[in-house]
Amino acid sequence: MSRVYVNPLPVRIWHWANALMFIILIVTGVQIRYLDLFSLMSFRTAVVVHNWVAFALIANFFIWLLFYLFSDRNKAYHPEFNIVKLADQSLKQMLYYGYGMFRGEPNPHHIDPYNKFNPLQRMLYQILMLFLLPLQFATGLMLWDVKRFQPYIDMVGGVRVVDTVHVLIFIFFVFYMFFHPYLATLGHTPTAHIKAMITGYEEEHEECDAPVAPAAEGAAKA
Ligand code: HEM
Repeated sequence: MSRVYVNPLPVRIWHWANALMFIILIVTGVQIRYLDLFSLMSFRTAVVVHNWVAFALIANFFIWLLFYLFSDRNKAYHPEFNIVKLADQSLKQMLYYGYGMFRGEPNPHHIDPYNKFNPLQRMLYQILMLFLLPLQFATGLMLWDVKRFQPYIDMVGGVRVVDTVHVLIFIFFVFYMFFHPYLATLGHTPTAHIKAMITGYEEEHEECDAPVAPAAEGAAKA
């Protein structure tokens, strides 16, 4: 068994602060949107907490962004432009999640610090971090001060459009909060990925994962 340093400190700090703030934003967001259905707190409290936490979430996003902008570990987020290779790897990963995993077959993706995501994770995280989160920040800012951002709101079709996009992404994130922690339990043990997001180190069991090339193994060990 070897230990691979996959999650540097800034990523871990960003991730858990982000998860906590997501929970607060979802609870207060539900209260703001579905005032008639829930009465967890006053509308005013929900709005004030939602706004403050949202600004903290935006600030926190820059920990993630600046870390990856200035670290060669951003290779983990580099897109695969070879469509045939991407389709082949994605299919193998889907077959593993849908079938192979239940038969105890090895994970087709081998983790190393510069390639820690399997192709499905990589695509999901690219969309999430580079598109959905920034779009949620932008629409949230516009709704926070409609008057100030009126020219931009008009440019994209009015406040209803902005609000709809914000709520649709919010609904996506609510589902994501169930789906993502479930996927996070699919390491070689149910807690392996979660521990790695706490300690930074992923434990690799060679007997159940794909073979490690000697050169890559040396580079991967912390
Ligand atoms: C309690 C809730 C959460 C748990 C238990 C959890 C767990 C994990 C774990 C174990 C990993 C590392 C393994 C993997 O990549 O699958 C991870 C990575 C990641 N999670 Fe979460 N997560 C949670 C909430 C969130 C939320 C709300 C977001 C929203 C953006 C998020 C975004 C990410 C991203 C982007 C990564 C990759 C980070 C990187 O290495 O750059 N997670 N999560």
